[in-house]
Amino acid sequence: MKIKRAIIPAAGLGTRVLPATKAMPKEMLPIVDKPAIQYIVEEAVKSGITDILIIISRGKSIIEDHFDRLPELEAKLEAGGESKKELLNEVIEIAKLANITYIRQQEQKGLGHAVLQAKSFVGNEPFAVLYGDDVIIGDDPCTAQLCRAYEKHGKGVVGIKEVSSEQIHRYSSMKASHMDGNIYKISDMIEKPATGQEFSLFSILGRCVLPPEIFEILERTPYGFGNELQLTDAMREIAIKEGLVGVDFTGKR
Ligand code: UTP
Repeated sequence: MKIKRAIIPAAGLGTRVLPATKAMPKEMLPIVDKPAIQYIVEEAVKSGITDILIIISRGKSIIEDHFDRLPELEAKLEAGGESKKELLNEVIEIAKLANITYIRQQEQKGLGHAVLQAKSFVGNEPFAVLYGDDVIIGDDPCTAQLCRAYEKHGKGVVGIKEVSSEQIHRYSSMKASHMDGNIYKISDMIEKPATGQEFSLFSILGRCVLPPEIFEILERTPYGFGNELQLTDAMREIAIKEGLVGVDFTGKR
C-alpha cells in the first residue's frame, strides 16, 4: 500500500533551544534561506506524500502563515516586475507544495500525545511521521526510504542511526538484529535509557511509518519518561508483538 498521508508534530515547547525559541517556533528557525519545517514538507512531498497534518500549538500560527498565500506580499512582488518574478513564483509555490491541514495540541504532553491528535486525519491507513525539528537532507529522501521498506515488509518502520555512547541516554535505544543491507529487525526499544539499559547504539531519529493500530495502543499507554506520553512506549508494543523494521537511512541529519 502506498503511503499518502504524513503528520508533522511541531507543537513542542522547544526548551532545549531557548532563548531562540521563546517566541519563535523551533520548527521555523531558518537553515540557509528556508525555515526547517519547509525542508521537512518538501521531503514528504518528494516521498510521494499528498496530505500532511501539521500539529501545532499556541504561538505557532506563523507555521500556517508560511504555507499560506500572502496576497499583499505577492502584489508587491508583482509590481516589482521581471526582477521580482522568481521570488514571486517561489513564494506562491510554497503554498502549493501539498494539501496541508493543521490541528492544535492543547497541552504539550509528549510526542505520543501529539501523534494521537492525528487519529481522525489518518483513518485506517499506514502513515508517516516526520518530527518537525529533524531536518534530514539526502538525494534519496529519508521518508521515501521508509515508505519503500513498509511496502516491502508490510510492518511498521523506524528510521534509525547509531549515536555515540554519550548521546544514547538522550535518545531511544533499539534492540536491533541485522536483516539485509541497511535493514534491521527491531524487537524491543527503550526511551532515554539509563546507563546499562541500552540495547544498542541504534536510536530512532526523526522518521517512522506506522500502522493505524498505533492509536488504539497510544490510548491505553501510560505516561512514561518525563511524565509524557511517549511514542516509543507505544511502538515498543508493536516491536515486541510482531517486530518493526529499522532502516539505517542515508542522508545527513
Ligand atoms: P522534542 O522532544 O524534540 O521537542 O520532540 P520539544 O518537546 O520541543 O523539545 P524540548 O522542549 O526542547 O525538549 C520532537 C518533535 O515533536 C514535537 C516537537 O515540536 C518536535 O518537533 N512535539 C513534542 C509535539 O508536537 N508535542 C509534544 O508534546 C512534544
